[in-house]
Amino acid sequence: MIKKILLPALVLLTAAFTAKEPQPLYKNKNAPVESRVQDLLRRMTLQEKVLQLSQSYAGNNNNENNKDENIKAIPDGIGSLIYFGSDPVFRNKIQKKAVESSRLGIPIIFGYDVIHGYRTLYPVAIAQACSFNTDLAARAAAVAAKESKLSGIDWTFSPMIDVARDPRWGRVMEGYGEDPYTNARFAVASVQGYQGNRLSDPYSIAACLKHYVGYGLSEGGRDYHYADVSPQSLWETYMPPYLAGVKAGAATIMSGFNDISGIPASANHYTLTEVLKNRWGFKGFVVSDWGSVEQLMNQGVAASRAEAGQKALMAGVDMDMTDRVYQENLAQLVTDKKVPLSRVDDAVKSILRIKFQLGLFEHPYTTVLPESERYLQPEGKAVAGQLAEESMVLLKNLNQTLPVKNTIKQIALIGPMANNREDITGSWSAQGRSKDAETIMEGLQYEFGSNTHFNYAKGADFDGTDESGFKEAVAAAQASDVIILCLGEKRAWTGENTSRSVIELPAIQEKLAETLKATGKPLVLVLNNGRPLGLAKLEPLADAIVEMWQPGLAGGTPLAGILSGRINPNGKLAITFPFTTGQIPIYYDMRQSARPNSGLYQDIPTTPLYWFGYGLSYTTYQYSNIKLSAPGITKNQKLIAEVEVSNTGNMAGKETVLWYITDPAASISRPLKELKYFEKKQIEAGKKSIYHFEIDPMRDLSFPDAGGHLHLEAGEFYLYAGSQKIKFSLK
Ligand code: BGC
Repeated sequence: MIKKILLPALVLLTAAFTAKEPQPLYKNKNAPVESRVQDLLRRMTLQEKVLQLSQSYAGNNNNENNKDENIKAIPDGIGSLIYFGSDPVFRNKIQKKAVESSRLGIPIIFGYDVIHGYRTLYPVAIAQACSFNTDLAARAAAVAAKESKLSGIDWTFSPMIDVARDPRWGRVMEGYGEDPYTNARFAVASVQGYQGNRLSDPYSIAACLKHYVGYGLSEGGRDYHYADVSPQSLWETYMPPYLAGVKAGAATIMSGFNDISGIPASANHYTLTEVLKNRWGFKGFVVSDWGSVEQLMNQGVAASRAEAGQKALMAGVDMDMTDRVYQENLAQLVTDKKVPLSRVDDAVKSILRIKFQLGLFEHPYTTVLPESERYLQPEGKAVAGQLAEESMVLLKNLNQTLPVKNTIKQIALIGPMANNREDITGSWSAQGRSKDAETIMEGLQYEFGSNTHFNYAKGADFDGTDESGFKEAVAAAQASDVIILCLGEKRAWTGENTSRSVIELPAIQEKLAETLKATGKPLVLVLNNGRPLGLAKLEPLADAIVEMWQPGLAGGTPLAGILSGRINPNGKLAITFPFTTGQIPIYYDMRQSARPNSGLYQDIPTTPLYWFGYGLSYTTYQYSNIKLSAPGITKNQKLIAEVEVSNTGNMAGKETVLWYITDPAASISRPLKELKYFEKKQIEAGKKSIYHFEIDPMRDLSFPDAGGHLHLEAGEFYLYAGSQKIKFSLK
């Protein structure tokens, strides 16, 4: 009898010891992502879930001896780290701990601000927008993705697609300017560039649309400030780039620091959950901005860190960037029933989903290659150079001062930017090194060769009152036939937390220009900056002006090519240059005024110095024969527009046609004009090209109301391309 009972028990016991536990479903790479997510979630403890929702950082110290200390300090099971290092070995070591020593082996997702390149820096975003070449921007993002991936980065906090109309705000350099449509196009291009065809491709990284939403509107251009925006304007202007980025498949989105009319962006249930997740069906995850959960207390909507965490999570913020609010409070909030577990689970699922899609469970480690194979590869540098070339904008060219005549053999090269390797790269330069950057002087010397002599003098610094260098600068000018004066902003003058009360360059730079002008020599002004500048004083002093922006590491050669005439400039401004600071706000798609010719400033011109879309070329283009496939359409039809552009000059060039639509009467007043499409093409000298635009009524003629619902109203519309204008109707 005893034997009868013992035997089966013994068999069972032996089986339990010998049978291997089957591989958990979540580890099966062939199982559908959603099943893997569900399987993993059901195995997780509350504490493990909370850690998945938390982001910390690593690698910011370069002391070899402390690196292990640093690893120990990272909480076991953390969901994400911002990785400030660039060493894949160190990154893999941290990852190994997560994958091999944590209970469930969930890999960490490593993020970083790869804004305009990782090591191969290309032009800052505002410059890229002026290229109106989204293919190039996508290729540059792909270069950045590859360099990042090879350094252990799975996720970039880019693109920034905050429509920005106040150049006092230092972050204008990070975005694509004042126009919603341009921001939307570049959002799509960057997402495609970073993420490639599939997130799991070897060189794809996850993109992050930021800073959702309205951050570009921070009052008075003061960073981190309140953004007062009507619901209709929010939909009209600030939401469209985000919708485009979400549709393009962006894996993540960052909630902003700003307060949107009283409800901070990081506690905003309407924008984050009702719109982004429910209406738009966003399936990735929302990360807060650095400390923006904790800051809800500063913004006056939370009395404690716990309350801040509760508000952010319930609004829709899935991952908490660095302030440890979730880490320290969420478990208790769940226990106290202030946060339902189902919301925690949703947030965890959204993060796990991206980790599975990135292939992190199968390939948690970065391939380790020598730096020489990771960075600064020729094809990447070529893209950076091409993008820099197409970003530069010729703003003035009196009497064909440019290109510099090849008979000129003495050129004065003056100014704080002329021989500057630091500031040319721009803010947010990730792992870029100034030593990799080409200076203006190097570009010019290479371009013009040894037959041309450059008389260099710095003349003055960016700021301050020291005029002691003026004398040398004047002598250099006097010894030359033309002056190339390189002025601008230090790179730390734009980027985060770099608001400025005036957008004019410091007086010392203006005074240097005045002093040089007095020599009577032709003056070419080259500008290196991250925001539109107030040029009311400088513009009249210059015979020619080239806006080179902050081109990254490959700007010297393209600038030199423009100055020599090897390259025909083709950038157009993606942001208006106000006449003076006091003219802000001014942007091309303003709403209509009750008295369009009155109510204007009495002391300055009524128009800005340069409007959005402005940019000169060494050739001339003539726009003609604008046509439509029909004089009118119904709401379900499409209208094909075309315009002929002839290159009537002597040099081949690239011309971007900007198609605008005006709706003169609607139930909600429309902007004066709205950009609806752009296309850039090469046109040989003496040749013409036909540009097309297919008007889709719902996409191009509708407008949102305060709830974001689109209205399509019958009526008359105008279409513009260059000097051409044509009327059509919608029935
Ligand atoms: C910035 C973000 C950035 C984050 C992480 C914040 O201060 O606003 O744009 O992605 O820091 O570095």
